[in-house]
Amino acid sequence: MTQKQGMTIAIDGPAASGKTTVGKKLADLLNYLFLDTGCMYRAATLAALKNDIDVHDETAVTEHAKTIDLIINSTDLVEDGRLYTVLLNGEDVTWDIRTPAVDANVSQVSKYLGVRNEMVKRQREYGRKGNVIMVGRDIGTIVLPDAPLKLYITATAEERAQRRWQDRQMQGHEASFDIILEDVIRRDNIDSQRKHSPLKPAADAIEIDTTQQSVDLIIKQIMTMIQEKQEVH
Ligand code: CDP
Repeated sequence: MTQKQGMTIAIDGPAASGKTTVGKKLADLLNYLFLDTGCMYRAATLAALKNDIDVHDETAVTEHAKTIDLIINSTDLVEDGRLYTVLLNGEDVTWDIRTPAVDANVSQVSKYLGVRNEMVKRQREYGRKGNVIMVGRDIGTIVLPDAPLKLYITATAEERAQRRWQDRQMQGHEASFDIILEDVIRRDNIDSQRKHSPLKPAADAIEIDTTQQSVDLIIKQIMTMIQEKQEVH
């Protein structure tokens, strides 16, 4: 497809909805920058855990989050299935941010306004140049409210847990489907009920239910939407 002009695409949705897979494939096709903001909240959580900071201590978690050096890099990747590399204070934590310990605590850390403000500031820096696909929970509502294309990607909790279970198997980790399903539902509840930037579709977001739909088909649908937007602008 010939690019007429760059645009910003905001993708939100609940846990393990496939938004990262879809966003990354789209970014590769369009040659856009890709940013999965979930990895930033995960890294802030890992940083707190590594430093023995109680995740319920809002002030300590927030102050620490402000100090972390976080680099997310999608080029020159180690070929181990990663979509991007996350460096936390120079250390490669790409897989360490996906452990059950981080899953269990990330939604608590993500509730804090100070943590969110810090991460949103860093995310908007990435978004400033345009030609970016940003994925998260509050991208269309808070981080990039002017994005011309906003998508809200969902699937049933069972299907999302199934996909996450398969990911874990492929990464060589033993995982229980029931525990993953429980975690997905628990995080969705916290994320959608929190006071600051709760998970919800932006008023002008297009909802895509990916239950029993292939990634290729979803990508095709979104590429058509992008073409339509570019014809209008
Ligand atoms: O990959 P998965 O969908 O399981 O989660 P993630 O996108 O890596 O996000 C992990 C957690 O970070 C979420 O459950 C939210 O608590 C938080 N998050 C957020 O609050 N805001 C964002 N923009 C992205 C993630």
